[in-house]
Amino acid sequence: MEVNFTVNGKPARAEIDPAETLLSVLRERLRLTGTKEGCSEGECGACTVLIDGLPVDSCIYAAGAAEGRQIETVEGMTRDDLGRDLQAAFVAAGGVQCGFCTPGFITTLVAVLREDDAPSEEDLRTALAGNICRCTGYSQILDAVAATVAGRNGR
Ligand code: FES
Ligand code: FES
Repeated sequence: MEVNFTVNGKPARAEIDPAETLLSVLRERLRLTGTKEGCSEGECGACTVLIDGLPVDSCIYAAGAAEGRQIETVEGMTRDDLGRDLQAAFVAAGGVQCGFCTPGFITTLVAVLREDDAPSEEDLRTALAGNICRCTGYSQILDAVAATVAGRNGR
């Protein structure tokens, strides 16, 4: 079957198997390998992309369900002011170590900060509950978000 959607603002089309996941289509057919595959079970968040602005685990999302939708991947975050600010803050704060989890964190956080430009730590921890990082202990990631929020709000 064929699926048509928008990826990072550009139209995309792929021939897919009916059971194929969106993650597979992004990585294997469209060669957008910034989105990572970790658990493949919707538990780790490494595969997070935005669908119509909301974070989704693409490893458990049927590619066919993406028909007509707007997909954003971490590759698109380099063209997004907020995404760029977050990526720079992650590097500066030591929020990137092995980096495997980072695309999922960045995409989730872009969605969060688009909705609320100064979220509480509790809200952030809740929003990030589906994103697992085995390296940083999370405090550097929260530091990176705080730096991003402060920078963007002129504090
Ligand atoms: S690879 Fe999708 S949630 Fe882990
Ligand atoms: S930086 Fe290694 S898993 Fe997060």
